[in-house]
Amino acid sequence: MADAKQTATLSFDGKTLELPMLSPTAGPDVIDIRKLYAQGGVFTFDPGFTSTASCQSTITFIDGDKGELLYRGYPIDQLAEKSHFLEVCYLLLYGELPTAEEQEDFESRITNHTMVHEQMHNFFRGFRRDAHPMATMVGVVGAMSAFYHDSTDINDPYQREVASIRLIAKMPTIAAMAYKYSIGQPFVYPRNDLDYASNFLRMCFSVPAEDYEVNPILSRAMDRIFTLHADHEQNASTSTVRLAGSSGANPFACIAAGIACLWGPAHGGANEAALNMLREIGSVDRIPEYIKRAKDKNDPFRLMGFGHRVYKNFDPRARVMKQSADEVLDLLGVHDNPTLQVAKELEKIALNDDYFIEKKLYPNVDFYSGIILDAIGFPTSMFTPIFALSRTVGWIAQWKEMIGDPTQKIGRPRQLYVGKTMRDYVDVEKR
Ligand code: SDX
Repeated sequence: MADAKQTATLSFDGKTLELPMLSPTAGPDVIDIRKLYAQGGVFTFDPGFTSTASCQSTITFIDGDKGELLYRGYPIDQLAEKSHFLEVCYLLLYGELPTAEEQEDFESRITNHTMVHEQMHNFFRGFRRDAHPMATMVGVVGAMSAFYHDSTDINDPYQREVASIRLIAKMPTIAAMAYKYSIGQPFVYPRNDLDYASNFLRMCFSVPAEDYEVNPILSRAMDRIFTLHADHEQNASTSTVRLAGSSGANPFACIAAGIACLWGPAHGGANEAALNMLREIGSVDRIPEYIKRAKDKNDPFRLMGFGHRVYKNFDPRARVMKQSADEVLDLLGVHDNPTLQVAKELEKIALNDDYFIEKKLYPNVDFYSGIILDAIGFPTSMFTPIFALSRTVGWIAQWKEMIGDPTQKIGRPRQLYVGKTMRDYVDVEKR
């Protein structure tokens, strides 16, 4: 625990409380209010947790004003350029970049857990073919706890480790199965001679009727997208996983809860919504109409892929994603992608509009990712499952940290109650 170097004085109702202030290695100091209710008889009120630190963590740090994102201290742009997803997974899980031997062992453990229990194929057949792949993923990942009984005891470090490896290894297989099921094609088994991203692309796009060669440009772009989405401190879905885990729920149930939360269009569902929005806008000359709607308080429309609770500057992941979109489309020979043109023009107009400047609304990770995923060949319905696949390692790293935190208690917020005070029951004939 960070140590208290000073205190915050709180005076009310004739009382004065001295609350310890804790200093981080980076970011704002925090006021430790754990004893506030016991000493002062009051709660704090912070719906949406805009000013609340729910935990202490060593995994990911975001500087929203500077637009910086660090995984265990390493800047995201360096990792996106120089590392690869399974190395980033090792870093997030164990805190340091691996040696060559450590990486080889880790990748071998992941590779040898990529198949799912054969009976899990039956789960998919219970869904309609047109079910959203996120619906099938929530169901199938939650059901993993019905199969892997030997890795559900969260108090056993060995079982926690096995569950972590299984989830990271099997998410691409489950996501690919959700996609194949939705298009009526047979499931494709993982291959141990392929890297993580190439394996996923092959499980999604190969068919038994012909050979399939993974395009290295696409697998590199896929791997980079996984890295960019891997973790993001205490976002909504990670907080969901931590809260579910604080009750002692098994890891598969916790990750299924994270997938469910990520699905929302205000969160991970924004990548699907952003591409659908760019397609609906359709051409550059229609952008002003949508900018007007986004600024209209009476219109619920928002620019999907814009704005962020923490970033009040460019999301560093959006910078990398934008550069990657240019590279991938160029290498694929797609030079006049109308959706990319609309995205770039929309970004330019929005960033020069007083409304967006005043509210510090910038493109976020979801604004450009859909353009790359579309170029790779995915339907928009697969965008959030790919986000969930990528974020699984972040959820697990945060879940393991939460379990290992000696100060950890079950998460149980209080409330500002504004309902009816106690009153007696009224018989129906007297109402
Ligand atoms: C992700 O938390 C994370 O780290 C998430 C994430 C991760 O990696 O886990 O980064 C992934 O979820 C990225 C965000 C994806 N969502 C979207 O792109 C959906 C569109 N964005 C908005 O819904 C919104 O910006 C949020 C939800 C992302 C952030 O919302 P906040 O912080 O609660 O801010 P807010 O809704 O209170 O907005 C502040 C103001 C409001 O105006 P006022 O009420 O102050 O007048 O800005 C406006 C909003 O109306 N605003 C927008 C806007 N986003 C905010 N106006 C138009 N278009 C937008 N996109």
